[in-house]
Amino acid sequence: MQKIEFDKDFLWGCATASYQVEGAIDEDGRQPSIWDTFCKKDGAILHGDDGSIAADQYHRYKEDVQLMSELNFQAYRFSIAWPRVLPEGRGEVNQKGLAYYINLSKELHLKGIKVVATLYHWDLPQILQDEGGWAVRSTAYAFADYAKVCFEALGPYVDQWITLNEPFCAAYLGYLYGEHAPGIKNPQKAFQAVHYLNLAHGLAVKEYKKSGLRVPIGTTLNPSLPRPASRKAEDEKAALYARSIFTDVFLYPLVGKGYPKEVTEDMHISFPILDGDMEIIAQPIDFIGINYYMERAVVLDETKPFLHREVPSWQRATNQDWPIVPYGLLRILKYFDQVTNGLALYITENGCANDDVLQDGRVHDHFRCDYLNEHLAACKKAIDEGVNLKGYFVWSFMDNFEWAWGYSRRFGIVYVDYETQERFPKDSAYMMRDIISGYCEY
Ligand code: BGC
Repeated sequence: MQKIEFDKDFLWGCATASYQVEGAIDEDGRQPSIWDTFCKKDGAILHGDDGSIAADQYHRYKEDVQLMSELNFQAYRFSIAWPRVLPEGRGEVNQKGLAYYINLSKELHLKGIKVVATLYHWDLPQILQDEGGWAVRSTAYAFADYAKVCFEALGPYVDQWITLNEPFCAAYLGYLYGEHAPGIKNPQKAFQAVHYLNLAHGLAVKEYKKSGLRVPIGTTLNPSLPRPASRKAEDEKAALYARSIFTDVFLYPLVGKGYPKEVTEDMHISFPILDGDMEIIAQPIDFIGINYYMERAVVLDETKPFLHREVPSWQRATNQDWPIVPYGLLRILKYFDQVTNGLALYITENGCANDDVLQDGRVHDHFRCDYLNEHLAACKKAIDEGVNLKGYFVWSFMDNFEWAWGYSRRFGIVYVDYETQERFPKDSAYMMRDIISGYCEY
């Protein structure tokens, strides 16, 4: 029996992202994003799924907010779809697109739920991709203009801003491995994307500072801190290489440390830096969000471009073969605490896919309950060890379009019957309700 107690001001939230839950891709003036295009590509998405209907939150947000409230959630992290707000990527603002987010935010506030808005969770307007997407500098400036529009229109409703969600995925899955939109496999473009995403973040924060808004603003990373597979110095080095290329290229510039030399010198990777860029990226922010799912182990391998390779894991894994390593979350929190000098941190996503079965209106997802509890225990330990962790957002509020996996992987604590769009809280949802109430013993 274990009771994990958190301070009363610890923020409990749940999270989703626009393309994964909204649907309504052709409504109220929205134009295509790179994900609409990518989903049409043969073989890109499992079973040829797409986000055209998803969990239909665009039409059912009131019902969803009601459920969040019944489950005691104090904050909802959603993302704003750029192609709804600026259908042409830049220029003319689509008021109907903004209205959706205003209505959603008002509904949340009615129920006493805080609004945590992410400006970019991967749905770049296709029209900007046609100009080169994140591999070109102009996209970073278009993002700053889009951010400004959001700050002006949604400023009165948003309690916390997040610029980007996981630039790692946007840059590497999108431009290096080709597994996510826009499906490009080109290392040079991938590193351009890394830099322009970093720059986009900094430019947006600069805009924010000018806006006069005062609520916290930060960004969300999905840090990877693989552990060395042995005590050998060379494997320690492998872990450093993995951390540098996957995490530090995003984290270091944020704190004014520039790009890690392991990447620029040992891997011979260069970034398209112009004078002043690094200062823009290092604008002070109020917090960093951390998305955490798994950890792997690595060994040195100088034949690989990033000088390391993963070795097999032994841990229990999710149905996506993601090894479950709660201790890895503690290591990441402590690492971020150290590099950022005690900056406020939030877990902005944590959760797992599971083979959920709906039976008589219930889903007994004890696998997920265990997963969440073990990670919450890691959060608590981090706090006890002095980390400035301020809140936890479970991924996800509900089952949704899981990118290249389509609808085959369910991450929700609320089950979505995609035939009827009916929602069914799973056991993990009731567990979260009780954890948030402070009366849960596990
Ligand atoms: C993303 C989510 C995604 C989740 C599970 C994160 O990388 O931000 O959009 O659904 O992981 O794969």
